[in-house]
Amino acid sequence: MRPADVIAIKRDGQEWTREQIEDFVLGYVSGDVADYQMAAWLMAVCIRGMTARETAHLTQVMAQSGDLIDLSSLGERTADKHSSGGVGDKTSLLVGPIAAACGVLVAKMSGRGLAHTGGTIDKLESIPGFRTDLSLDEFFSLVRSVGVVIAGQTANLAPADKKMYALRDVTGTVPSIPLIASSIMSKKIASGAHNIVLDVKLGKGAFMSSRESAIELARAMVSIGGQLNRRVVTVITDMNQPLGCAVGNALEVLEAAETLRGRGPEDLLRVSEVLSSEMVRLALGVGQSEAEKRVRDAVGSGAAYAKFEEWIRAQGGECGASGLALATAPVQHPVLATRAAYVSAVNALVIGQVAAELGAGRAALGEPIDHRVGVVLHARPGDAVKAGQPIATLHAADESQLAEMAARLSEAYAWSESPVEAPVLIHGRVDEEGHVA
Ligand code: URA
Repeated sequence: MRPADVIAIKRDGQEWTREQIEDFVLGYVSGDVADYQMAAWLMAVCIRGMTARETAHLTQVMAQSGDLIDLSSLGERTADKHSSGGVGDKTSLLVGPIAAACGVLVAKMSGRGLAHTGGTIDKLESIPGFRTDLSLDEFFSLVRSVGVVIAGQTANLAPADKKMYALRDVTGTVPSIPLIASSIMSKKIASGAHNIVLDVKLGKGAFMSSRESAIELARAMVSIGGQLNRRVVTVITDMNQPLGCAVGNALEVLEAAETLRGRGPEDLLRVSEVLSSEMVRLALGVGQSEAEKRVRDAVGSGAAYAKFEEWIRAQGGECGASGLALATAPVQHPVLATRAAYVSAVNALVIGQVAAELGAGRAALGEPIDHRVGVVLHARPGDAVKAGQPIATLHAADESQLAEMAARLSEAYAWSESPVEAPVLIHGRVDEEGHVA
């Protein structure tokens, strides 16, 4: 069938077959289908939508367009976790060792940060010696021996998605639930884990800004998993304010380690425990309350922190007897409260942008980053502060941007004269059966 005829099927509101999707998408990867034809195809999807069956076909075709990691020899205990991206979201650094300490085989491929959101690979590379460019043999061997491995995505992971995503970015076709769901899930399917826990972020610093759209995305991804023989659970978590206090690569790694040692922020621990429990429940086939208990025990007993150190060393990272020793930023500048009040909000997007502009993030793929820099928040929603008290510290490479960044950071804070409740952390969950809670 000619590309124009395939596009016309969706234009007219009809359903594509698997073969039609496969021919079109693989034709695009090989160059037989032109950019303008794929752009029209994507826009037809944005306007007309896709059925659950079409969405699963598209996911499978994109996954099969490149490397497929086959973890089936490890049985059904394998699990992966993915977040739709947020500010200060370092949960992968906690969830991996927590779930592994409970007996789950955590096999994860991660990406780098872009714009105001951080990426797990950038964070891990702030640990001297830590290797993320693992061969497939090393990847398998670490899952077997340590129980947790996090590697950079192979260059050939879901190449159809890579090419289509770049086109979506410049043709106004990113915000479509079936396109987002199939894009995320194609990389998870190709990475091989049997059980997949997805963390969809909701709020100012996130991709999804309403609970309804987050639930819709979650259901689409759970449905793809069901059709492609994977067990998928999605938790919808808050991203109106940064998660935890630290934003910036090395700062976040240190906060993750401190949290596993029982010395970190409560919100980070809570979200990490919820995600870990879902991994334990799915991968080990135990009930919800038993999974939660195992996770609490792993953290409380120190087993999760011991697993963290074992994992860091196994991937080549330096971790001495007293833990991690990471490079720190040469300039540390406190930002002070100008009045006594309660913090009512801290805008995650603005904090993420400040950290990125200090050098923690990149505006384009491939740019270098400074692992040492970022922001540490001392006052967060619900906290009462006095005038002159530090609300945050900027960690910078030099003094050149301090005045501007301090002003922007202050503007990220909203204040109230009366007490404010701490924000809701978990907005919902869609389980592997598609039940919404
Ligand atoms: N993340 C992805 O990987 N793909 C999308 O389409 C959106 C977010």
